[in-house]
Amino acid sequence: MQDGTASKPADTLIGVDAALKARRSIRDFDATPVPEALVEDILTAALNAPSWGNVQPYRVAVASGALAQDISRDLMATYKRAMAFRGAGLLKRLKMLRGGIPSPDGDFNTIMRYPPELDARYKATGKGLYELLGIKRGDRAARDRQMGRNFAFFGAPTVLFVFCSADLGAYAALDTGAFIQSLALAAHARGLGTCAQAALATWAGPVKARFDIPEGYKLICGVALGYPSAEPVNAYAPKRRTLDELCIAPK
Ligand SMILES: Cc1cc2nc3c(=O)[nH]c(=O)nc-3n(C[C@H](O)[C@H](O)[C@H](O)COP(=O)(O)O)c2cc1C
Repeated sequence: MQDGTASKPADTLIGVDAALKARRSIRDFDATPVPEALVEDILTAALNAPSWGNVQPYRVAVASGALAQDISRDLMATYKRAMAFRGAGLLKRLKMLRGGIPSPDGDFNTIMRYPPELDARYKATGKGLYELLGIKRGDRAARDRQMGRNFAFFGAPTVLFVFCSADLGAYAALDTGAFIQSLALAAHARGLGTCAQAALATWAGPVKARFDIPEGYKLICGVALGYPSAEPVNAYAPKRRTLDELCIAPK
């Protein structure tokens, strides 16, 4: 293990508010590798996240270089198979079923229905992203390709697979969320970008085949990590709730 000397010295890191405002999900990365010491430095900073009882109910599987590419290749193949299955007619589907159904084997359900209030926000965010990428609403193939980029980690050279304790339910997920935001801010402060990707929890097989996951831990999210490219998609800043939409008025 190295000591994080590749990172910026603490006195050049940006302030919390500046990082909160400027951090965005990065969906296009340079191929430049992230030095191992820098990954460790970011993870060390993120370990300052609060957790209930300080139990820190999360573990991280770090994949870079060839290992990340191997996992990506397997995930991409599974995704493509699932897409082909979705688009196939009955006969072809039956044929494909013989080779095994490409149904999700993740620990959590990543494909869900949102209640109407949230669904509107989900759709508006997706619409804005696709518009920026020049993808037309009816262009299913282009949408699928963009979705598929999740499984290439949007070109990031490093990906963090985040696991949380299965036994603490919502509170482990809450703690893990605080950890993920902490590492996103720590990465941003050091000139790197991240994208939290629940999509990477859809199929757990390729990750579990390459890491000994401690008993009782479930794959909840992936986080792509790398240097942001100059592509406009990285400046996408979807709208936030107004304070009125956020705060619940007293009776
Ligand atoms: C738990 C979680 C899972 C996410 N999963 C994905 C994902 O699978 N693919 C993706 O492109 N973005 C994903 N995102 C990024 C969100 O779309 C993004 O945070 C949101 O649109 C707000 O944009 P911003 O992060 O740029 O501020 C995820 C974010 C979180 C916190």
